[in-house]
Amino acid sequence: MDLKAHIRPIPDFPKPGILFYDITTLLLHAEALKEAVDRLATVVRPYKPDLLAGIESRGFIFGAPLAYALGCGFSILRKKGKLPGRISAHEYALEYGTDTLEIHDDAVQPGQRVVLIDDLLATGGTLAAGARLLRQVGAVVPAAACVIELSFLYGRSKLDIPVETLVTYD
Ligand code: PRP
Ligand code: MG
Repeated sequence: MDLKAHIRPIPDFPKPGILFYDITTLLLHAEALKEAVDRLATVVRPYKPDLLAGIESRGFIFGAPLAYALGCGFSILRKKGKLPGRISAHEYALEYGTDTLEIHDDAVQPGQRVVLIDDLLATGGTLAAGARLLRQVGAVVPAAACVIELSFLYGRSKLDIPVETLVTYD
């Protein structure tokens, strides 16, 4: 199945000149959603994860069914101020300003293999921050996986781990 056929490009969102790749149309389509999760399972399984970690918010949409498919637990990286327990945080740069990801300190056991999941790789700042945070709490991070890659932004160059992606826009 052609997943791109179910991803809707929307011009000038969130600001003029940006072409936004909208996954909500893919999520609406039962077979496309299943195909995306099944293909992620195929590329992530060889890394033998103990846990997956999803990045708020769109990483949760694909990460949780993928964890179910692979028989893994699911750890969540959340934006600032959402987690109730003891947390570690990592601030990272966006195009304008900064954002912060947080994780519960006990969300990973030392040495567990944790594969990072998100919907989209753009500049790579989000996955790089996620990988740093996971390592900060003791994880081994063998890889990351996303549905979409915007290769013209060279996000891979920010990452010191392999990133598995299903569809690429260049
Ligand atoms: C988007 C997307 C990725 C990130 C990719 O998330 O879902 O998480 O940007 O960008 P990067 O590779 O340049 O870091 P966003 O922060 O817009 O939030 P959302 O997932 O909550 O919609
Ligand atoms: Mg996101």
